[in-house]
Amino acid sequence: MNTLYLQPETDDTAIARAAELLRAGEIVGIPTETVYGLAANALNPDAVCKIFTAKGRPQDNPLIVHIADAAQIADIAAEVPESARKLAQAFWPGPLTIILPKQEIIPSVTSGGLSTVGIRLPAHPLARAIIRAAGVPLAAPSANLSGRPSTTTAQHVLEDLSGRIAAVVEGGACSVGVESTVVSLCGAVPRLLRPGGISLEQLRSVLGEVEVDRALYEKIDDTETVSAPGMKYRHYAPEAPVTVILGAPEQTADYIAAHSGSTTGVLCFDDYASRFSHCGAVLTFGSSQDVPEQAREVFDALRRFDKTACTEILAQCPPTDGIGLAVSNRILKSSGFHIIDLREGNT
Ligand code: TXA
Ligand code: MG
Repeated sequence: MNTLYLQPETDDTAIARAAELLRAGEIVGIPTETVYGLAANALNPDAVCKIFTAKGRPQDNPLIVHIADAAQIADIAAEVPESARKLAQAFWPGPLTIILPKQEIIPSVTSGGLSTVGIRLPAHPLARAIIRAAGVPLAAPSANLSGRPSTTTAQHVLEDLSGRIAAVVEGGACSVGVESTVVSLCGAVPRLLRPGGISLEQLRSVLGEVEVDRALYEKIDDTETVSAPGMKYRHYAPEAPVTVILGAPEQTADYIAAHSGSTTGVLCFDDYASRFSHCGAVLTFGSSQDVPEQAREVFDALRRFDKTACTEILAQCPPTDGIGLAVSNRILKSSGFHIIDLREGNT
């Protein structure tokens, strides 16, 4: 299949063409403020199946359903509790996915066989324009091959999916850079299943108590049942194995400098890059002081290791407050939770 490259900035018909393909049951890469999504009509099981095939994604991993107006939540969720309305009011449009019991209208293939569904109203104007023009909610996982780092540019999408999808819509580099926060409102207490663009602190400011799923911090066995099925798979991983060094940046930089060589790849903060001139590949993901910048750059850096000859990767990682929880979660997952912990009390 020839993948169309649609450019709304210079082509007035681009959004209408993307919408037409989606209505016809095709799959299309679309920009969102978090990462690029691989979209299909969420209500068409055949179209949704194409997403799983193109990505090589396990069928039990549910998709997020994207809407263009907050009111559409009532067409998709079987019930909309007060907590969901509060979250929508505070953080939509934006990088937050709310899990609720689903209505019949959502096919089982979209929800990965679960009785619940993740719903998100994205902030990217092009994402909303495409959903509106398509006239249906869009199921969209991140637009990467399963297991690879998520895509934050249209170019990344083409690298992974060219020839496998009908089109990709150019929308520039993603402004958040890590995926949406996933929160489940299906239990007695709200539960954070995946940290993302909305921080845990922000969620708590609206909801009060929020539980944190342990899959955020540790490797989950493939045979275990997890709340967010996506959390159990190796993810975001470059080809070379990644080891994360935890500790203050100064301390982790010293460790990496002393334990690396000409075939080592280093994932580090901009301000420490000069320490690793003896290493095979040094890829930076923003200043140690600027976590939003780290979020925007981390996936691009992880993807670029595959174009180098490094045989191992040693990584720095930010502290876990604010959006740092999402950035550190993605780096830890890229390593399969392979960690050397230099923090006090852990050596
Ligand atoms: O920012 C994002 O959320 C992006 C953009 C495209 O919107 N999408 C995205 O989708 O990251 P995906 O499929 O790559 O990740 C969705 C995560 C997975 O870990 C999945 O298991 C979980 O959300 N999830 C989706 N629906 C769920 C449900 N009903 N119950 C529990 N977890 C769910
Ligand atoms: Mg994904």
